[in-house]
Amino acid sequence: MRFTSAILAAAAAGSALAQRPSNTSICDYYTTALLKENNATNQYTLLTLVVNTAVIGNYTQPNVGVSVPGILNPNGTYNGTKVNLVPYFNGGLASTNDNGKAVARNFLDGGGAAPLMKNMPADDMKSNQYFLMTHLYEFFGSLLGCSQYGMKGFPEYSGDASMYKVHKYMVLDPYQMGYFIEQVALSAASFGVAESDIMAVGQALGSLFNYRCEPEKTVIKAQGPQWQSICTDQSCPLADNATCSAYEMVPQPAVANATLAMGEGRNASMSGSATPTMSGSMTGTASPSASASFNAAAIVAPGLTGVAAAIVAAFAL
Ligand code: HEM
Ligand SMILES: *[C@@H]1O[C@H](CO)[C@@H](O)[C@H](O)[C@H]1NC(C)=O
Ligand SMILES: *[C@@H]1O[C@H](CO)[C@@H](O)[C@H](O)[C@H]1NC(C)=O
Ligand SMILES: *[C@@H]1O[C@H](CO)[C@@H](O)[C@H](O)[C@H]1NC(C)=O
Ligand SMILES: *[C@@H]1O[C@H](CO)[C@@H](O)[C@H](O)[C@H]1NC(C)=O
Ligand SMILES: *[C@@H]1O[C@H](CO)[C@@H](O)[C@H](O)[C@H]1NC(C)=O
Ligand SMILES: *[C@@H]1O[C@H](CO)[C@@H](O)[C@H](O)[C@H]1NC(C)=O
Ligand SMILES: *[C@@H]1O[C@H](CO)[C@@H](O)[C@H](O)[C@H]1NC(C)=O
Ligand SMILES: *[C@@H]1O[C@H](CO)[C@@H](O)[C@H](O)[C@H]1NC(C)=O
Repeated sequence: MRFTSAILAAAAAGSALAQRPSNTSICDYYTTALLKENNATNQYTLLTLVVNTAVIGNYTQPNVGVSVPGILNPNGTYNGTKVNLVPYFNGGLASTNDNGKAVARNFLDGGGAAPLMKNMPADDMKSNQYFLMTHLYEFFGSLLGCSQYGMKGFPEYSGDASMYKVHKYMVLDPYQMGYFIEQVALSAASFGVAESDIMAVGQALGSLFNYRCEPEKTVIKAQGPQWQSICTDQSCPLADNATCSAYEMVPQPAVANATLAMGEGRNASMSGSATPTMSGSMTGTASPSASASFNAAAIVAPGLTGVAAAIVAAFAL
């Protein structure tokens, strides 16, 4: 791993452990802590490390004892419910929004996990994977306040402005959302990001994307207010000032080329049906409204409080 010595040196120096000053963004602070020089290249590298790790699970050395299963892990669980997001990424489901039509598209066409483990977005710069991964680096770079965002070495976000439109035909539910956000949180934790910072990011992701019928909100400054709900299944909690007329009710994505095992994929609320018809998962009893408000604390897995201690233990040797 190319960044091993930089991360090791920074962590050993304890710089990642000090309290982040309020006038320094999360991006800038951890770029300095982990990669020393706070420039555009290193900020982009930080985002690459965190996003790649969230997507495929922890792969860098050394690790601080935080295991990240990864968004592409077919055996995910969130709050005891099975979650498998793979069919949304590999073309297994007709869940991509192609100009208002639900189509199946493979987003792992740039070499899959292998280039990600080399801290790259994809092997092939024309692949769907390349666009998805680089868009995620850019998007999260803006969200985390990178000071070099949009400057030479850190391209500004060039993907779709509305997160609702992008994710519309996925009809994602709170468990799928919770799993995704938890992987981002675990990835950050695996690099020694402080719990308070992880909580802040989790809270932002929750309030921006994890409610249905959200009024327009600005996420990327240059793109202005946009419809942003990513959680659009009927079981998602309703936003404050809900604007449901802006959100079309669409059915669960059709299976295009996937063999969904028990508990994989789901087929909950079809057009407002209140009774979820879960395909084999153990959640039949979960009352959607019971989990109505997103709890930022839920994104922090048990034991994460010990992250700082784990870093000290790992690097004091
Ligand atoms: C807080 C939660 C999430 C955020 C902030 C987020 C953000 C994004 C962004 C910025 C893109 C790139 C859009 C573009 O290139 O135009 C994207 C694409 C995508 N996301 Fe999410 N996402 C979230 C949750 C999820 C979840 C839970 C899934 C579950 C399967 C998912 C699946 C995808 C897929 C398949 C794409 C590619 C879609 C396309 O390019 O057409 N996302 N997401
Ligand atoms: C943040 O504030 C401290 C003093 O409170 C100052 O030394 C530092 O330069 C400031 N950093 C930024 C990025 O403005
Ligand atoms: C940022 O700093 C690194 C060294 O840490 C250097 O290799 C890289 O060229 C610098 N990038 C810019 C844009 O100055
Ligand atoms: C991921 O992290 C866990 C916990 O530190 C560790 O046991 C595991 O070996 C790591 N996996 C990889 C592929 O590095
Ligand atoms: C997921 O579980 C299956 C069945 O137990 C196993 O064969 C597979 O290796 C697991 N995959 C991962 C990435 O853990
Ligand atoms: C809801 O709308 C009212 C009136 O426009 C506004 O005062 C309030 O701040 C909004 N609440 C949220 C959470 O956006
Ligand atoms: C959901 O149900 C529809 C209609 O029965 C079906 O076409 C589709 O393949 C199902 N999707 C999943 C993910 O099970
Ligand atoms: C379906 O998936 C299999 C295995 O991933 C692949 O070999 C095949 O080409 C796919 N078929 C279509 C029509 O996409
Ligand atoms: C997951 O569990 C947490 C903590 O009990 C709870 O606050 C949250 O609402 C649950 N999320 C879902 C989707 O069930």
